[in-house]
Amino acid sequence: MEQPKLRRIGILTSGGDAPGMNAAIRACVRTCIKNDVTPIGIRRGYQGLIHADTVEMDAHSVNGITDRGGTILYTARSEDFMTPDGLNRAVQTVKYMGIDGIVCIGGDGTFRGAKTLADKGVNVMGIPATIDNDIGCSHYTIGFDTAANTAMLAIDKLSDTMQSHERVSVVEVMGRHAGHLAVYVGLAVGATSIIIPEFPFDFDRNVIEQIREGRMRGKNHHLIIVAEGVGKCDEISRRITDETGLEARVSILGYIQRGGSPSTRDRVMASRMGHFAVEQLINGKRNGIVCYRDSRIVAVPIDEAMSMTKQLDAYMYKVAYDITI
Ligand code: F6P
Repeated sequence: MEQPKLRRIGILTSGGDAPGMNAAIRACVRTCIKNDVTPIGIRRGYQGLIHADTVEMDAHSVNGITDRGGTILYTARSEDFMTPDGLNRAVQTVKYMGIDGIVCIGGDGTFRGAKTLADKGVNVMGIPATIDNDIGCSHYTIGFDTAANTAMLAIDKLSDTMQSHERVSVVEVMGRHAGHLAVYVGLAVGATSIIIPEFPFDFDRNVIEQIREGRMRGKNHHLIIVAEGVGKCDEISRRITDETGLEARVSILGYIQRGGSPSTRDRVMASRMGHFAVEQLINGKRNGIVCYRDSRIVAVPIDEAMSMTKQLDAYMYKVAYDITI
């Protein structure tokens, strides 16, 4: 059966931004234009949808943005949208603007928002973009690679000065609920210890003993990577000094990890996902999340996608510990 022709597709970014969001927006806009569909940029995520804060886009409005971090559409975490009134107003905007489907780019909060719209009859297609890589249905989320590189380069610099002073660095990387970034970065920088919310850790065995053993082998600088969800870096640093006599310094990398020009991987992934999301809507697919699974881009129905969970890569965690000696 022939699909009814889509005329206007909305595009929004919501929640914490991630490098590569602009490349995804560009891919969505250009794929719309190629298919004779009008792309409508919705600014400030669901908040913008409530207030009809929209802009009609064309091929040129996304010129030269692939290499830019952040999101040209701005982002927000909208509390109004969580209220019945806010949701109804957002649905009204969709109706009176004649928007036939919305591509929602972001993390789990964004997908929860997309689901509430879907339940009200709005066609949605999600694209996973968060530096936390904590979306259950997708093996990869846009922004993770860039954030990992940013953290790694910052820690490399820290290591130079910490080595000169023979100190211990306690470094907090982002991830309020997930340790994917901490483990990945920890492996990349040769961390002595990685502390994440997913696994219990024994401070004496996993931190103090590791430092002592390292010192006995002649190591003069130790890196302790702590996921934001664990926090307590000052306490960890103080305990290290109390128990080993070594000087320790805390560095919280913070929001720099969310900025910067996206890596090749993020640009390519964002472009593929953006293109795929719009094609799905044009081909009559409804209410899905674009996922990267087993090296393929696929769409998973939103209910199924949101029930999926992602385990932390325990093997990668083990590798990091095994080779830190
Ligand atoms: O983008 C994900 C994330 O970076 C989390 O790791 C972090 O806890 C959160 O966003 C903080 O975002 P904000 O302060 O913008 O709410």
